[in-house]
Amino acid sequence: MVTPEISQVLLTEEQIRVRVRALAAEISHDYAGRDLLVVSVLKGALYFLADLTRMMDIPLAIDFMAISSYRGGKGPSGAVRLVKDLDEDLTGRHVLLVEDIIDTGLTASYLLRSLQARDPADLAVCTLLDKTARRIAHTLPIRYRGFEVPDLFLVGYGLDYRQFHRNLPYIGVIRDDFLRREPASS
Ligand code: IMP
Ligand code: MG
Repeated sequence: MVTPEISQVLLTEEQIRVRVRALAAEISHDYAGRDLLVVSVLKGALYFLADLTRMMDIPLAIDFMAISSYRGGKGPSGAVRLVKDLDEDLTGRHVLLVEDIIDTGLTASYLLRSLQARDPADLAVCTLLDKTARRIAHTLPIRYRGFEVPDLFLVGYGLDYRQFHRNLPYIGVIRDDFLRREPASS
């Protein structure tokens, strides 16, 4: 799919597929025989979660949260509002938080605090993309990571710019002149 807003394809469909398959195999191996609950955040992780869990060959349950981040003029504050909470009880479960991208890490940090308070047996993070350059929260339990990516604004495979471009099958860099200098939504 060729789109004029994209300046560069960073990760092709094939690269994503190969990496996601490897992550699925690793996670299936590590969590075999445990009560795995995969928890994800709407909407950015939607394709990653769907592909990852489809490639896993162990029993698992899936649950969702939805959040909205407050992004002021001074960049991310880490303040997150829970718009939809989980349906599942986490007590004693092996919980894997699946994220599309971790940037400053403030969102994941907030979510992990909220999940940890519900007494899971174990809590870890799987992120498709790890944008380490802007990390503020340095102690996240990122057990699985798809790709380390540079500090560029990425869209596709679930990632959006103002809710658009999520459905691109690859991950691309959005052209600079399409990014207006206003607070971004997540
Ligand atoms: P953090 O709290 O700074 O780690 O922000 C994480 C959230 O910011 C992600 O879940 C995305 O919604 C959004 N985000 C960060 N970088 C990008 C990007 O390159 N493209 C699209 N969304 C992004
Ligand atoms: Mg997100």
